Amino acid sequence: MNHLTHRPHPVDLPAWSRLTDLARAGQPHLRELLVTEPDRTARLSLSAAGITLDATRQRLTPEVEAALVELALQADLPGQRDAMFRGEAINTTEQRPVLHVALRGGNASPGNPHPWPADVSHSVARELDRMTGFAEQLRAGAVTGSDGQVIRDVVNIGIGGSDLGPRMATEALAHLAHPELRVHYLANPDAWALWSLLRTLDARRTMFIVASKTFTTQETLANAATARRWLLDQGIAEHELHHHLVAVTAAPDEAAKHGHTPERTFLFSDWVGGRYSLWSALGLPLAVAIGRDGFLQLLAGARAMDLHFLQAPPAQNLPMRLALHGVWNRNFLQMHSLMLAAYTARLGRFTPYVQQMDMESNGKQTHLDGTPVTVDTGPVIWGGLGMDGQHAFYQLIHQGQHRVAVDFIGVRTDDTPLPLAADHLALVNRNMLAQAEAMARGRSLEDTLAMLRRQGMHEAEAQALAPHRQFHGNTPSHVFWLEQLDAFSLGALAALFEHRVFCQAALWNINAYDQWGVELGKTLAKAMESGR
Ligand code: F6P
Repeated sequence: MNHLTHRPHPVDLPAWSRLTDLARAGQPHLRELLVTEPDRTARLSLSAAGITLDATRQRLTPEVEAALVELALQADLPGQRDAMFRGEAINTTEQRPVLHVALRGGNASPGNPHPWPADVSHSVARELDRMTGFAEQLRAGAVTGSDGQVIRDVVNIGIGGSDLGPRMATEALAHLAHPELRVHYLANPDAWALWSLLRTLDARRTMFIVASKTFTTQETLANAATARRWLLDQGIAEHELHHHLVAVTAAPDEAAKHGHTPERTFLFSDWVGGRYSLWSALGLPLAVAIGRDGFLQLLAGARAMDLHFLQAPPAQNLPMRLALHGVWNRNFLQMHSLMLAAYTARLGRFTPYVQQMDMESNGKQTHLDGTPVTVDTGPVIWGGLGMDGQHAFYQLIHQGQHRVAVDFIGVRTDDTPLPLAADHLALVNRNMLAQAEAMARGRSLEDTLAMLRRQGMHEAEAQALAPHRQFHGNTPSHVFWLEQLDAFSLGALAALFEHRVFCQAALWNINAYDQWGVELGKTLAKAMESGR
């Protein structure tokens, strides 16, 4: 136990009791709030680092908002944030600092403070240089395979945090992709997944990145072993394999056991959690895809969000506000699930990325002091592309019994080089806003009846049909707007979601940065392998 674990439990804070009372008293339906509160847009629109949040459709009244901000102060959210940025060992069960924020710090200056120890900044700068330098060499065609042919396919072998972030960002920034260098991702150890990729590749022009923080993950090691075997079978000699293999890890000794040389091993530190590692050397496949400049832009966007998070007061602080809304929805309005829908196809992998980040962080059973949680922790995160979801699972949100909160992500401009691209964007964005409105306002039984009568339906038929066609509404949503989907705004968006997770953990008094829940299944699989 250390001082970081002895914090008040949320239910003991006066603001928690106040919020409980406010929730019990009930709030007007969103369709009323949206009409009767003229200052709603001014009050509930926030922006930072190029991202604008429209929170007008959250079930918030001024009293609830005030109590939530009070909760942030009573839980010492600013102090907990500062402890993270200072590099205190806030991952208390593993006694580690949590410093992914240092990976995007750039060079320190009076306007760009580095609260963490200076040696952290030095090691970050060194490895960023090495990693992006290698990515540039690959992009320039200066990296060759065993017989001197230029590498043209790069395959990232990794799973969980060693896959989801770089893969999501590579797809999101596909418009920046190198025209001749292809980047592939392989996570699943299913032989078909591997074979269906390998059969499309020329071994002499292929490089594998084995990406694993621990270098003990069975799925990744199995895929890496089969990739090596494939290289041998394709006629590459054992002593030439190093031309086709790169490791990215926080455990270089483990990587060395698998034959990886120090020159071709890129490093990050154990204070970078796997699901927060996009910004580290694990971003190598992304840097290969979008280049050094693109990667630096991504870091700059994240850094802009970090600075906002560090400096803005709680009421205007985007990550803090998001987390407070999340706590209100989860703990006081009993919304156990959060549907995250992007309305731009390039963000198709954003939901699985956030899903790991949030659920592996905040799906917890104990407070920091080890006592059982006294409040509900992380919600179920699910979703996908909004336009697809409208024709699949939105029905359940509109008329099912699950209480679901919703996050929508949209972009305002799109420079896809197609003559009708602007029309497509307008269509997509109209749909997103229409869904947000429909979920918020719903349609009452009376309004549904009136509509059916207006359409000329007989009274008996209208009475029979109206219950099927009413909408409960009152589903809270956020709309996140990006000006355009570029590396900077993607970095800011990803950092925003990271900080939301941290803030919710801080409010719930849980550790977002361990993941003991993934252990038992792994141990049992190992035991089965060795027949125990
Ligand atoms: O099993 C979960 C997990 O440990 C994640 O936290 C992590 O992102 C993933 O596995 C991959 O781990 P590694 O990078 O060590 O291979």
